[in-house]
Formats: sequence, C-alpha cells, structure tokens
Amino acid sequence: MDDTSGCDGSCKIGRIMGKRFRFGILGTGNIARQFALGVADSSHCEVAAVGSRREGSAEVFAKRFNAQTSHGSYEALLADGSVDAVYVSLPNAMHHEWTIKALEAGKHVLCEKPIACSLNQARDMYDAAKKHSRVLIEAFMYRSHPLTRAVLGEIKNGAIGKVKLIRASFCYSTNKIQGNVRFSPELAGGALMDVGCYCVDLARLVTAADPVTIQSIGRRHETGVDEYACGTLGYDNGVVATFCCGVSVQTDNAALICGDQGFVRVPVPWKPPASGAHYVVDVMTPPKQDQSHAKRPDKRVVEVNAEGTLYGLEADDFAASVVDGRPPAISAADSLANTRVLEELRQRMVWT
Ligand SMILES: NC(=O)c1ccc[n+]([C@@H]2O[C@H](COP(=O)([O-])OP(=O)(O)OC[C@H]3O[C@@H](n4cnc5c(N)ncnc54)[C@H](OP(=O)(O)O)[C@@H]3O)[C@@H](O)[C@H]2O)c1
Repeated sequence: MDDTSGCDGSCKIGRIMGKRFRFGILGTGNIARQFALGVADSSHCEVAAVGSRREGSAEVFAKRFNAQTSHGSYEALLADGSVDAVYVSLPNAMHHEWTIKALEAGKHVLCEKPIACSLNQARDMYDAAKKHSRVLIEAFMYRSHPLTRAVLGEIKNGAIGKVKLIRASFCYSTNKIQGNVRFSPELAGGALMDVGCYCVDLARLVTAADPVTIQSIGRRHETGVDEYACGTLGYDNGVVATFCCGVSVQTDNAALICGDQGFVRVPVPWKPPASGAHYVVDVMTPPKQDQSHAKRPDKRVVEVNAEGTLYGLEADDFAASVVDGRPPAISAADSLANTRVLEELRQRMVWT
C-alpha cells in the first residue's frame, strides 16, 4: 500500500475470491447514477446498496441499478454490514462529514471530487482513514483511464522536452440554476470546485509539485458562486499552469502540455471514451513560417483504448487498492495538495 493513501498497510481486507467488491452508494443524484452504470460494467465490483434521504429515491435507484438493498437514510447505509466500501456522491460541502462517518463505521471510502472544502477538512478525513485503518481515495475518474497514464508517460520519457506551460479548460453551460448544487454557496458549489478541480489536478499530475504562486479571477453569479473563472499556478521550477473553468460557458475542454521540444494536446482529457481516446504529440520546431518547416516530423497521434468505461475503471482501481493494496489512482498527498490549491484559489479570487 502506498504510504500516502491514508492507510498504514494494516487495512487490507484480504483478496476477495469469487466475490465481487460491494459498494454502497450515498446519494441518488447525477453522478451516483453514472457511477452505478460504470460499476455494472466493471470487472470486479457491484452496487450492493444505496442510501438516500428519501426511502422512495433509494428504492427507485436500487431497482434501476440492481442493488440488493435500499436504505431511507445515510446512517442506515453506513450500518449495512454487506457493504465493503461507501461511495460518497453527496454535494461538496457534505464530503467531510459523511466520509468521516463512513470511515468510523468501518467502511473504505471512495469520495467524489473535490474531496473537501478546505485543507483542514481534508486532513481530518485522511487522519480518520488512518485511525480506522481504512482506504480513502478521491474520485478523479480520469486518472483511471490509460490515456492519462500514457500522456504522463510521454512527458516523463521526454517527448516534449522540459515542461514549461500547461493549459487546460473544463467548462459547460447549464440553465438549471434552481436546485442545482453547483449554484449553492452553502454546498460549496461554483465552477472552480465543480470542474476547475480537474485542471488543478492535472497540473499536480504533470508537475508533482506545489505551486508557489496561486492566482484566480472569476465572475460571481447572483447566487454567490463563481460561474466561471481562470486560474494561474506558478512553480519553482519555472512551470506555469493556466486554466479556465465554468458552469455557464463553453470551451474546448482540452489540455495542452507544452515543453521546449514540443507539446502534447489531449482533446478529451476528462471523460475519455473507452475506445478511440487519443492524444497528439507535436514537435513543432522550427516555427511554422520557417522554410524548413516541411522537414519537421509529422505530428504523432496516439490512440489509447481502455478495457472498460470510465467509472467502471475507477471502481476497479479503488477495489484493487483496498483488496490488493495497489497504489491509489490519486494519493492522499496529491488530494491534500490539490485541496490546498483550491482553497487558496477560492480565497484569493479577484471578482470581475
Ligand atoms: N466525477 C464526476 O464525473 C462527477 C460528475 C458530477 C459530479 N461529481 C461530484 O459528485 C458530487 C455530487 O454531484 P451531482 O452532480 O451528483 O449532484 P446531484 O445530482 O445534485 O446529487 C447530489 C445528491 O446528494 C444528496 N443530497 C444530500 N443533501 C443534499 C442537498 N442539500 N441538496 C442536494 N442534494 C443533496 C441527494 O441524494 P438523496 O436525495 O438521494 O439523498 C442528491 O441526489 C459532487 O461532489 C460533484 O463534484 C463528480
């Protein structure tokens, strides 16, 4: 077990032979449904139970996704002895409370991103994981797709030389404001928390370092959350990462990692498909207008297919961390570092 997972190594539950890894899902919203579909497609996991604030919602969900048990409260799900791990799919502001309660109930926890609203909260959560010898992993599903590992491999192997710039975006536009957790300041909504966290995590993945300069500018929605924002992270080694995120605007939602020898473009970095996911390595020196441009190597398009769908891969990765002690898709150290950056981006945001 990776020593940054929040688990000291004594938390293995033993290899589950001939038995599927059993998730209990807290909440019956949008991502809970997507995750349950993914688990249905996974090799080793199943949704055993679901807990909702309303019995009726839990029953409908359980029926739709073939979960054996439905619970009309979150407490009842945590008390369900048939559940190996709890998937926390609640609004951001509830991650801290319910992750800790699940860990105290003896469950391993896969908690949706962003794992917490503050560094202190995140520390509490990983401390609880350690105290109860349980695995806690933040659900950044794109990390479980082989595309992400392949892109990182290219960069580590020097395909683009020394990394200097990272540019990423994750935006979408929704008209659903009323009742949407993303527009609730109390539930820690906002573009930065909802989708900007992916761009922050990508910067972490590529640099493996803490930014020393953290800046953000955003547009405040009338509900009080940031409806779109841009951030800049500066690193000691000279890397600068910029990103845009939004819940009321559209962009290309791509990632570009630029080095002194070329760049990698990932057209669909956050939700890559099972088949046909790809990235492009472009070694564009000398500049295009140069006559010798014709001699430059063609850009290389690399397709990376996955052996399952995104949330199924995420569920299998999580189960492997619990059962086999495989290093988590995202370490506790990375989740803590990202939480610190998100907290500072929110606190320091300049409003436009
Ligand atoms: N990884 C991804 O691809 C991805 C995508 C979307 C969202 N997320 C993350 O998943 C979490 C949930 O997002 P979502 O889009 O699934 O939200 P959602 O559709 O609003 O669902 C949230 C669920 O939380 C429960 N809940 C408890 N208290 C609530 C409250 N005061 N207001 C609203 N819901 C409440 C509800 O379930 P019950 O009524 O059944 O109790 C609700 O269905 C967030 O942390 C978000 O960042 C991740």
